Parts: sequence; structure tokens; C-alpha cells
Amino acid sequence: MDKRAALEALKAEMEADKSLPLSANLVFGEGNPDCEVLFIGEAPGQNEDIQKRPFVGRGGQLLRENIRAIGWKEEDVYITNIVKRRPPENRDPMPDEIAAYAPYLARQIEIINPPIIVPLGRFSMNYFLPAAKITRDQGKGFRTGGRVIVPQFHPAAALRAPEVMRQFRESFAELPQMIAGKLPIKDLDPAPAVEKKKSKPQTSLF
Ligand code: URA
Repeated sequence: MDKRAALEALKAEMEADKSLPLSANLVFGEGNPDCEVLFIGEAPGQNEDIQKRPFVGRGGQLLRENIRAIGWKEEDVYITNIVKRRPPENRDPMPDEIAAYAPYLARQIEIINPPIIVPLGRFSMNYFLPAAKITRDQGKGFRTGGRVIVPQFHPAAALRAPEVMRQFRESFAELPQMIAGKLPIKDLDPAPAVEKKKSKPQTSLF
């Protein structure tokens, strides 16, 4: 099965899974399944619920504008969320909602298999980097699980505070250099165990 067909099958499975929390429309994600970079937000808002597309409201416009500003095309990346239905009143996703959608997100990532993931905001960042802090770690690169994770501020947070907007744009502009390996990436994967060579019992020279 090719990637597009595998993603369609996963989407159908999610739509049929009545145990998943939240009742709004499923916003599965969109973009190029052969992308190098996968952007992952928090959960759909009202506009996303209506259009069944991720990041199409004001925050989404900011995200998409910044993707274009670094010379990438929206069609070349993939965009999704950790929770794929709108929480009521746009409240933060709850831990049990994140946990319920997690196995599907894991399979979506496995199918797309991107070398780089850009989590947007702390909920998505903490899914990949549980100990990270958004103000301290946004814009930095981490290697874990065989992928490079580069958390960024959530665009909605950037829209609320000029200083966050400044840092959001600054970190976003560094993404091409980060991806080209020109900026430091902290390795969080445990180093492979070095197999100790069994020392041969010394044979007598005589
Ligand atoms: N905020 C998100 O985290 N995701 C969306 O799709 C829209 C707004």
C-alpha cells in the first residue's frame, strides 16, 4: 500500500472508532506524505472544524505565511495535530484526549516517516520531549527516536504577544539551517552499547 492509501485507511479507521473522545469533525491532516518536515499542532479550532483542514484560521495563516517565507511550499510539508477533533470552547486538550489519539498519531507518523518533526506549542512538544519547556527549548534541535524534533512556539501564542511573535519568526527562519545540519542538534537517543571484545586468553609465546 502506498503512503496516501495507508493514510486514507487510517483516517477511515479513526472515523469509525467511536471510542475516540470529542464529537466535532475529524481533522486528519493534509500535505505531502513524502515530506521532509511534519508540523504538528495541538487540536483543531472552529475554522478547522468547519473546513476539516488543519491550521486554516488566523494562527494557521501565520504558520503558512512563515512556511512560505523560508522558501518552502505548503504542499511540500505535512500539517496535522496531536488531537484531531476540536475541544469545546477551544480549551486545551486534556491528557486523556492526547492519550486516546496518540496511537493514531504514532501510526500517522510511522506512515509518513518524516526525518524532521516541528511540534507547535507545548502540548505537541511534550508529546515528543516530555521534559522540554517551550520558552527554553523552542527553536532548538533534538534527535530522538531516529528523528530530529524542532519545537516552535504555537502560532496562536505568537499572535497574542509581540515578543513571542519575534522569537517565533526568528526560530522559524532558522529551520532551513537546522535541517541542513548547520545548527547544533542535541542527541537524546541513548548511545548504542559498545560490545566489549572478549579478551583472548594469552597464549604462551613458547
Ligand atoms: N491550532 C492548532 O493547534 N491546530 C490547528 O489546526 C488550528 C489551531
